[in-house]
Amino acid sequence: MARRALITGITGQDGSYLAEHLLGQGYEVWGLARGQANPRVSRMRRLLADVKVVRGDLLDQGSLISAVERAQPDEVYNLGAISFVPMSWEQAELTAEVTGMGVLRMLEAIRVCSGVSRGGSPNGQIRFYQASSSEMFGQVSETPQTESTAFHPRSPYGVAKAYGHFLTQNYRESYGMYAVSGILFNHESPRRGAEFVTRKVSLGVARIKLGLAGELRLGNLEARRDWGFAGDYVRAMHLMLRAEKPEDYVIGTGRMKSVRELVEAAFTAAGLDWERYVVTDQGLHRPAEVDLLCADPKKARVQLGWEPTMSFEELVAMMVESDLRLLTDGGDPGDGSWP
Ligand code: NAP
Ligand code: GDD
Repeated sequence: MARRALITGITGQDGSYLAEHLLGQGYEVWGLARGQANPRVSRMRRLLADVKVVRGDLLDQGSLISAVERAQPDEVYNLGAISFVPMSWEQAELTAEVTGMGVLRMLEAIRVCSGVSRGGSPNGQIRFYQASSSEMFGQVSETPQTESTAFHPRSPYGVAKAYGHFLTQNYRESYGMYAVSGILFNHESPRRGAEFVTRKVSLGVARIKLGLAGELRLGNLEARRDWGFAGDYVRAMHLMLRAEKPEDYVIGTGRMKSVRELVEAAFTAAGLDWERYVVTDQGLHRPAEVDLLCADPKKARVQLGWEPTMSFEELVAMMVESDLRLLTDGGDPGDGSWP
């Protein structure tokens, strides 16, 4: 019989890549989608016709229990979150509820539906993946960051993710649940939301190249991140849930680039000189910045056999090409309302 997976955050970047990957592995895939008329659900259905949709919200415990009862999953991937860091300062309480407490509600739904009690054994239970984040490292205490690097989150988002991370670990220890967290570093793609810096840059470059814009406004150009391709990272999520033992893993490339280098690479990919178009804007700086993030993905390489396949330069070129095509064809870039 086909394995069954339930994915929260199905309308997001990772939800779409993960669903594609699991369908390719012969899974029956269920996606939790919220709202009664969510346009992102229709878009997801066009891209992923084979995904079965179940309505629910990470703010609503009963809906999560119903979703688990209906989908009868072998594996649950909790990707749903308020995931844009600047929004977490403006809506800190909502971020805590969705990104933090949402993890508790999903774990409780699984625990209740599978009748798990303290000291239970992980065999035969629903396996749980939590989308933890390198934002938890925040002001880093060492570089590169590993599974044992201390957390010092710098945003309400990072704090909420740290809660979800420790809770997942706690349910594993308290109830013997197969519950793991992937500590994923930034990962991008042509499906990335337009509010995140890589996509903001690739769309900005495409607009300038096509004569639709004259400048690109950005915040801190000195921040450094470890950027990889989302398609590679969802494979790691699946490998974690198929491993013999439930353990947490850091997933990243081990290479760090600055926003300035990202900008340079993207404008170069379109044959443009970035210094003519980029304007820095103090209003786009964050109240507390994460200056640098760089993964040490050795554990995932050794224990899961996971490796990223796409370089930073290939990723940036792919995103710029994709946005040039999208805008030339009159497609909808799906811009958020964030600057
Ligand atoms: P994304 O594109 O922003 O997608 C977020 C998803 O969460 C959307 O499907 C959204 O659904 C859903 N969601 C928001 N509020 C919800 C609620 N109340 N109930 C149920 N679902 C809700 O994020 P992503 O880049 O795919 O990331 C996936 C996960 O990995 C997130 O948890 C993120 O924090 C984490 N993460 C991402 C990265 C990265 O670099 N991409 C790195 C580390 C960790 P709607 O369409 O209804 O809004
Ligand atoms: N979004 C954005 N917009 N970021 C900018 C801009 C701008 O105009 N200018 C500079 N930056 C800098 C930010 O200050 C930050 O240091 C860096 O670019 C990356 O910002 P984002 O792309 O918004 O991503 P993030 O690192 O804050 O968060 C992403 O990665 C996390 C994993 O480390 C998100 O996907 C999180 O959900 C994820 O957990």
